[in-house]
Amino acid sequence: MKPILLASSNAGKIREMRTLLNAHGYTVYGQDEQGIKGAEESGSTFVENALLKARHAAAISGMASLAEDSGLCVPALQGVPGLFSARYAGPGATDAENNQRLLEQMRALTGASRAAYYIACMVFMESADDPAPIVAQGFWMGTIGKTLQGKGGFGYDPLFWPLGGARSAAEWTLAEKNQLSHRAHALRRLLAMLQERQAPQPLSESD
Ligand code: IMP
Repeated sequence: MKPILLASSNAGKIREMRTLLNAHGYTVYGQDEQGIKGAEESGSTFVENALLKARHAAAISGMASLAEDSGLCVPALQGVPGLFSARYAGPGATDAENNQRLLEQMRALTGASRAAYYIACMVFMESADDPAPIVAQGFWMGTIGKTLQGKGGFGYDPLFWPLGGARSAAEWTLAEKNQLSHRAHALRRLLAMLQERQAPQPLSESD
């Protein structure tokens, strides 16, 4: 198993990504258990924040690091909560407070205006000065419900109804979510690129 530092303090994300990465031969270490404080998320896009987090974690730990920046975007609200998903109701807000704020902001919205998507952007850096970070994004499309439903998942899952489904994301099992979520899509893409970069093929005679 190869060690990898996960530049996140979010227990829900770490749980999902540990399961996915274990299945691909990686032992995951969370940054909190290594005593590493998170980087300041000062970027203006998910990819910028993920790069900041991965570089910071790799610089302090000296380990290959994987960062993930994710959030929920509602196009009818100009992409809100977006980059501020974790602190939508204010600094240190709980999931319940963020969900309540979203319900309030969307009270007047109906039908297609309740469309939303989760996005996950992942960045892998072999070291802090890795000149070629691996970057992968994934999306999960859905709509926002009018009440909270389900006890699983984390964050906005009790409000998020994946497209075509009859259950909120908080009613999906971890195994189901790890097949179809934004994080699952991003991680699959990232692992494919990682494999490409780590296994150079010898040139054939004709090259
Ligand atoms: P980050 O740690 O700054 O990337 O914040 C991500 C935030 O987006 C989380 O705290 C959640 O509020 C939200 N989020 C991201 N992915 C999910 C998910 O799979 N389910 C529910 N909420 C999510």
